[in-house]
Amino acid sequence: MSAPAKIASTRPDMADLPAQEALNPATQAESRARYFNSGNAFNIKLPPVPGGVFAEQPKQALSPDAPTGYIVCDQSAAMGCPFPATSPLMLTRYAVIAAGESLPADLCATGSIWYVISGKGEAKQGAEAISFATGDVFLLTGTAAVLNASERTVLWVVSNEPQLAFDGDLPPDDARRPVDMVHYPAAEIARQIEIIYEHQPAKGQSGIALIFSSDRQQAARNILPTLTLSLNTLPPASHQGAHRHNSAAITLVLHGTDSYSMVDGVRCPWSDYATLVTPPGAPHSHHNGGDTRALFLIVQDGGLHYHARTMGFQFLE
Ligand SMILES: [Fe+2]
Repeated sequence: MSAPAKIASTRPDMADLPAQEALNPATQAESRARYFNSGNAFNIKLPPVPGGVFAEQPKQALSPDAPTGYIVCDQSAAMGCPFPATSPLMLTRYAVIAAGESLPADLCATGSIWYVISGKGEAKQGAEAISFATGDVFLLTGTAAVLNASERTVLWVVSNEPQLAFDGDLPPDDARRPVDMVHYPAAEIARQIEIIYEHQPAKGQSGIALIFSSDRQQAARNILPTLTLSLNTLPPASHQGAHRHNSAAITLVLHGTDSYSMVDGVRCPWSDYATLVTPPGAPHSHHNGGDTRALFLIVQDGGLHYHARTMGFQFLE
């Protein structure tokens, strides 16, 4: 028996079909329905997440005449994202507060992670207040806060505002909030780092890092349900081997001489307090060519990927 002759289909391609709507909607709810198909539902090409370094923003923030306010590391236009974002789910800013002035921190986020680059002051949120100084890390919740500076102060802050904006959500109210205000003073951070250095790293462990969490996030080891914060260190003349993971990473360079990162084959030189973006899935490695210990603070949407079982961590060397 011979195979049936193929007849050219005269039917149009389903990929060209526009979004379909109900023919005779009986209700508002029916009229809101849209129908796609297996040809036209999965052909949207999102622009990739740009990697690279934000070096101008810290220079601007650290200039002695910078006014009180925020300087945003925004790459939403390059990502085709309708809200400000540094990576699809995270937003980074430098915050400047002139001596004696205050800055509102009213971010639509589950929480925000702050690092004090220089200066000192007080952060007030609800009934709580903390005094912060250079080198401190603190976590604010998604409710309104205010930062007062007793001297010129520059901070770095990362939040999950894009994640909430993407979901069209509001920050959790007081009862549902998954975190409280948390303060990690610089001296305590230094003590914790030394404790780690007194111990032997596990074989195959990725770098020597301090991971920040809190009483309420202790079980997950995260700082926020979806975000992780770590202070990574690199001994002199060493490097953290090439690896990849599906979480995006936003890195603040704290200290490193003759140091750089390789991101997707591109050499990204470190400069003081620069913000480095590692796109999700991009192969990367960090290199310390100097003779002092390098320090860098990394926020990742790692909590989200860990929960979704999509972290995809892989050593590449
Ligand atoms: Fe990494």
